[in-house]
Amino acid sequence: MTQKTHSFRVRAGGPLRGSATVPGDKSISHRAVMFGALADGTTTVEGFLQGEDCLATRRAFEAMGVVCEDIADAAMRIHGVGLHGLSAPGCDLDLGNSGTSMRLMCGLLSGQSFSTTLSGDASLSRRPMRRVTDPLSQMGARIDATDEGTAPLRIHGGQPLSGRAFQLSIASAQVKSALLLAGLYADGTTRVDEPGISRDHTERMLTSFGVDVPVQGRRCSVRGGQRLTATRIEVPADLSSATFPLVAAAITPQSDISLPNVGVNPSRAGVLKILEMMGAQVELTNVRAAGAEPVADLRIRASALHGVDIPPALVPLAIDEFPALLVAAACAQGRTRITGAAELRVKESDRIAAMAAGLQAVGVTVEEQADGITVQGGGVTGGVVESHDDHRIAMAFAALGSVAPDGIEIRDVANVRTSFPGFVPLMAALGLVIEEAS
Ligand code: S3P
Repeated sequence: MTQKTHSFRVRAGGPLRGSATVPGDKSISHRAVMFGALADGTTTVEGFLQGEDCLATRRAFEAMGVVCEDIADAAMRIHGVGLHGLSAPGCDLDLGNSGTSMRLMCGLLSGQSFSTTLSGDASLSRRPMRRVTDPLSQMGARIDATDEGTAPLRIHGGQPLSGRAFQLSIASAQVKSALLLAGLYADGTTRVDEPGISRDHTERMLTSFGVDVPVQGRRCSVRGGQRLTATRIEVPADLSSATFPLVAAAITPQSDISLPNVGVNPSRAGVLKILEMMGAQVELTNVRAAGAEPVADLRIRASALHGVDIPPALVPLAIDEFPALLVAAACAQGRTRITGAAELRVKESDRIAAMAAGLQAVGVTVEEQADGITVQGGGVTGGVVESHDDHRIAMAFAALGSVAPDGIEIRDVANVRTSFPGFVPLMAALGLVIEEAS
């Protein structure tokens, strides 16, 4: 149950220093459970994110007869049931706050012989689902949604699916992945073309499970009927979570922190490019492969940042990092402008509106546009901000508190546990002056 009164209080303090291991990647952890469940054999997952979103995915598959066995702190074995081995759950599948669970499972469950109902919390129940239900219907799926095209979603089982070629109007890994997963159950080939790059964890991980997923530029495809073979998945630390300590260190004078083993998949790593464009001193060392994903140790030192116009092509590559990047922009010299980012309005909250309101509340001048925001760097004083129940808004303002002379109180931060369990002790260990209050 979300505790509405739970808040963070952050005060400006000294520099952030030291090394910290950020929890596992959320996108990769979701996929590890889903694909491990559908595989033949037992998959071992190391570094699994024990955040509420991924636990919701895990519980949903457990409700469909998949045994997930904890073998260590963040390690588990998933006893796969095979492509056609899931069984009808005895209840609705509650996916909490997790859009990734709902959208990917919508594709995967469209191909089952049994029906399911997917529900979520207030935020997830507002998020647009037609982007997956419409193309899935074109493949033959039968999905009922509310008149607004939102959850709860009733997915009817036993519908024959046929492969199709899709030209997406937005770059979205969630939509692409939903279609590829439905494609595994479809006759023929399912092909997805995207207008921009979106994260490619699904293509990489399905390949690790032995599925042939040809990729050519922004086009990928899958032939129906291919089986998955169990494998071992190493989940890197989540770059999206790492962004909060990275930005806090970048803006807090004399900071110098290291974050080992962070995923740096190029379809996801736009934040590092944008921070560098702003003048941040980011270093990647020990770049290596963790299974199908590139990882690196990251080091960042505080430096003077300057405002930039963020190239629209980088937007999908950093889509989850804009709350934190806007905090960096608030501490930069000059103006930062983001355009082509209307997607930010349909995330866990309307992130353009939430960031604009919060930045104004702490003294920063901003201007909202339909598809972006302009931030005039400087002027951070402090105050009280609302997270709008959005984990990334809460963590972004916690990072900003590190340089706010009057401190920042962030309200309704319970959802931080969806993606970053242990956020407060980790940030405190690096030197952020942060406390939780209920
Ligand atoms: C995700 C894809 C992104 C991202 C989300 C996780 C994924 O959404 O915002 O947090 O794991 O596929 P879109 O693909 O809709 O942009």
